[in-house]
Amino acid sequence: AAAEKGGYDTFMAKEIHEQPQAVADTLRGRIDEAGQIVLDEVRMSDQDFRDIDKVFIVACGTSYHAGLVTKYAIEHWTRIPCEVELASEFRYRDPVLDRSTLVVAISQSGETMDTLMAVRHAKDQKARVLSISNTVGSTIPRESDAVLYTRAGIEVAVASTKAFLTQLAACYLVGLHLAQVRGIKYADEVSAILDELVAAPGKIAKVIENLDPVREMARESAGSDRVLFIGRHVGYPVALEGALKLKELAYLHAEGFAAGELKHGPISLIEAGTPVIAIVPSPRGRSLLHDKIISNIQEVKARGAKVIAVCEEGDKITAAHADLVIETPASPTLLAPLLTAVPLQEFAAELATALGRDIDQPRNLAKSVTVE
Ligand code: G6P
Repeated sequence: AAAEKGGYDTFMAKEIHEQPQAVADTLRGRIDEAGQIVLDEVRMSDQDFRDIDKVFIVACGTSYHAGLVTKYAIEHWTRIPCEVELASEFRYRDPVLDRSTLVVAISQSGETMDTLMAVRHAKDQKARVLSISNTVGSTIPRESDAVLYTRAGIEVAVASTKAFLTQLAACYLVGLHLAQVRGIKYADEVSAILDELVAAPGKIAKVIENLDPVREMARESAGSDRVLFIGRHVGYPVALEGALKLKELAYLHAEGFAAGELKHGPISLIEAGTPVIAIVPSPRGRSLLHDKIISNIQEVKARGAKVIAVCEEGDKITAAHADLVIETPASPTLLAPLLTAVPLQEFAAELATALGRDIDQPRNLAKSVTVE
């Protein structure tokens, strides 16, 4: 078993370290010489893609968080309205679907029953379905009109890490594909983003080299009865994912919030010493967002929180306000989750280890859930 884990103590540790390769593998060959994105199996014409006027993303768990990030990218790059919904809720509320709706189903296993049922409902309503899955030939891709496979390799740990990052990479490709097929409004931005995507694996590797401070912070936080995560824009779904990892692995009450919502309720949860992990956007460009999260950090600090900020390297403003900063390389805002999610995975794993939990096989959880 030790050999299977490649020298790591847990499959999760191994899989965290495999992320740069998994993302690079997922991108490889998907951008042709003309800079066009290539899907794997497409039973849809370019015209079908052009006719799309609405996108729904359906998924569960960590895959749902990849979907939430994708909404920001798809709406920005394509100007097509995009909604993200938990697969288990989707079909029960009679969503408005027709031939010009694209339903994107994200599922690592390709077998999650909730997601499969959402796909079947979408098809019954004549919507087109594009799936993103890590499992070639699994049920969800087989029932979809188009497929893009992630190439994370087998993920053994129940808590998803490398599959999540490759889902993000694949989702970005889908967003860019939609933008291209429909005639690109932001041609320059799309080609710049493609370059940045290709550079992402190297940056993820840098984040992984620099995880010691986050490990130390995790051990120090192991006595807390709750941990809060806050973010804005794509940092919000990253906050949700960080909290999910901690719930899954440490059995600790953890919650992710849109930082702007703090004042509408959750701030009452802050006590002296409560760890708050803030996902801070780049101080460049969208500095408005950055300013706003700095004031959120000030608000929670004023109530005694211990703030750990995941921010861009060289972000001195954040460093001046937070108790500890975890720096990630500079990246376009929309792609930042590929980097900022990684320290949160390690935080959860290390905190759970300090509590003596079974990292690869947490209680009550299954890798693939084939019941509704
Ligand atoms: C289970 C796993 C999660 C996963 C979710 C969706 O709950 O424990 O890690 O995110 O299913 O799985 P899928 O295979 O559809 O991505």
